Amino acid sequence: MTIHKYGADALHRVADPVQGFDAGLKQLADDMYETMLDADGIGLAAPQVGRSIRLIVVDTQQEEGVGRLNLVNPEFTPLDESLIEMNEGCLSIPGTFCAITRPERIQVSAQRLNGKPIRFQADGLLARVIQHEIDHLDGKLFVERVEDPVLREELRDVYEAIEMGLTELKSEADKEPVTTPA
Ligand code: CO
Repeated sequence: MTIHKYGADALHRVADPVQGFDAGLKQLADDMYETMLDADGIGLAAPQVGRSIRLIVVDTQQEEGVGRLNLVNPEFTPLDESLIEMNEGCLSIPGTFCAITRPERIQVSAQRLNGKPIRFQADGLLARVIQHEIDHLDGKLFVERVEDPVLREELRDVYEAIEMGLTELKSEADKEPVTTPA
């Protein structure tokens, strides 16, 4: 599957809830998972492959030992008021990494591919990836969460380059690519 880049329609609108838990959904999740691994990512949301539905796949096995998760219609609430800054990247915005502040610990509720409910708590990288992916389902990209106005301005140049297909351009934001893109 092709991973759509900044500017693609599905990346900028709110995705629809999944209602049919059929073989097609399982196939889509499998294809997304393969695509994510091929791109060395740790998370991927359906809008990133042009499907505007609320499905994400996540895998932080290498970093934290949490293997593949398929989350349908996922939601989260912060477990407490603790916030943490971490570097993020995104497979839809190649070459850009920046520090984003988000809740540190979250309660996640979602459905499995067969429709059964799943609830768990997450922290660390897993909590971070899940929040990043749920943002995708809401049409929001991580660079829109950058608070520094100067950096946001620089990032705008990167968006334009991406929309023109010049994805090699790097920005000042790309100094510490420590986080695997999602
Ligand atoms: Co992303």
